[in-house]
Amino acid sequence: MPLHRATPTRGRVNHRANPIHTLADPSLGASLELPTHRLLDKPIPAEVAYRLVHDELMLDGNARLNLATFVTTWMEEPAARLMAECAEKNMIDKDEYPQTAELERRCVSILAHLWNAPHPDRAVGCSTTGSSEACMLGGLAMKKRWANARRATGKSEIAPNLVMGANVQVCWEKFCRYFDVEPRMVPMEAGRYHLRGEQAAAHCDEGTIGVIAVLGSTFDGSYEPVAEIASALDELEARSGLDISIHVDGASGAMIAPFLDGDLLWDFRLPRVSSINTSGHKYGLVYPGVGWVVWRDAERLPEELIFDVDYLGGNMPTFALNFSRPGAQVAAQYYNFLRLGFEGFRSVHQAARDVATELATRIEALEPFELITRGDQLPVFAATTRPDVKAFNVFDVSRRLRERGWLVPAYRFPEHCTNLSVLRVVVRNGFSHDMAELFMEDLARVVPELARQSGPLQTADQGSGFHH
Ligand SMILES: Cc1ncc(COP(=O)(O)O)c(C=O)c1O
Repeated sequence: MPLHRATPTRGRVNHRANPIHTLADPSLGASLELPTHRLLDKPIPAEVAYRLVHDELMLDGNARLNLATFVTTWMEEPAARLMAECAEKNMIDKDEYPQTAELERRCVSILAHLWNAPHPDRAVGCSTTGSSEACMLGGLAMKKRWANARRATGKSEIAPNLVMGANVQVCWEKFCRYFDVEPRMVPMEAGRYHLRGEQAAAHCDEGTIGVIAVLGSTFDGSYEPVAEIASALDELEARSGLDISIHVDGASGAMIAPFLDGDLLWDFRLPRVSSINTSGHKYGLVYPGVGWVVWRDAERLPEELIFDVDYLGGNMPTFALNFSRPGAQVAAQYYNFLRLGFEGFRSVHQAARDVATELATRIEALEPFELITRGDQLPVFAATTRPDVKAFNVFDVSRRLRERGWLVPAYRFPEHCTNLSVLRVVVRNGFSHDMAELFMEDLARVVPELARQSGPLQTADQGSGFHH
């Protein structure tokens, strides 16, 4: 979360209520001024508080027009009802809410089957607040396994490292910083915007706790070739004896590929894949607040990391970074599994991919743009302006689209590819062909206006930072 200064340095320090409220409740006084950064001395009526907060939040963007986020922005009414019914349930309170714990267990089992664990009954996993926490847990298990293996063979202490592409989501840098692991980032190069097998293996050594393969890069929606990475690590083991496992960060892709890319080898069918995470709140189709991590078998999760909590007078093993957490999202995840089944997920995601690929093709057909990805892996694509476009840049396009409410992030690629800046569109359930049509109309309208500019008005530094 952003680190906030407690004292306001700008902006309002008082709410001023509508006279309608003060007339309705004379005890509030004639001019109702309410401090925004300190507690009031006395309570105010619920309706007045609601109105003040509600009205202020109208300035937030419209979540459905947010093409920046991967996170679910629309669920069916019965799902939303179920979540409201579970709002007060605390996930950690296994004793008080044993059925929520049971739904969590079923979801882990469903995912272990979906991701082809060779013995689903031996797989272990848990829910989390999202993929970030799930990645931390996956990383911690890798680090502990590596340390235990070194200790068992009497090897000396050396600094651990984690190998990954420079396109990884920021949670992996965070994991490395918080848990003292060297982030060994494989840089991008022109035309290669994610990790490949050869580069992954070349960066490994005896300090490597694991390799992260991202199924669905946050930068451009492309899948990293997990099978290729696994076979490069097989060859490395044959050459050097180093046995390095893979954690698949499937924040988005682990809930897309099983339904749309059944032949793609990326999951527990590859023996080198030890653990997989996903965000239930992305293509698991649940509102924000749930992720999942599953290990192919209990041996991959060192026992020292497991804590017991009380459960119906007994104990339940848990692995988590936080303690209290809402139970509503887990109930909603189970609802989605039950409601949609395999075929339901397949058709929802196919529809998203159809919208993404069609939109990408239509944008490519507009003269100024070229595609980096086409929306045919994650339903996500990135586009840039052609080299001969001098009047504007992707940051100008992003700003102009915002005038109509569309949030489309524009950002620069990292080191070695900083001359590439893109617009990225994330298509999610609820972004229909109709909405895509409206989006195209708006884009087609702003392009000729932008083309009349004498040069770009925005710079990369002014671009939208939100693309993860
Ligand atoms: C590949 C990848 N990993 C991890 C994350 C973090 O996920 P969450 O927002 O669920 O914590 C994201 C978020 O976009 C992601 O794309």
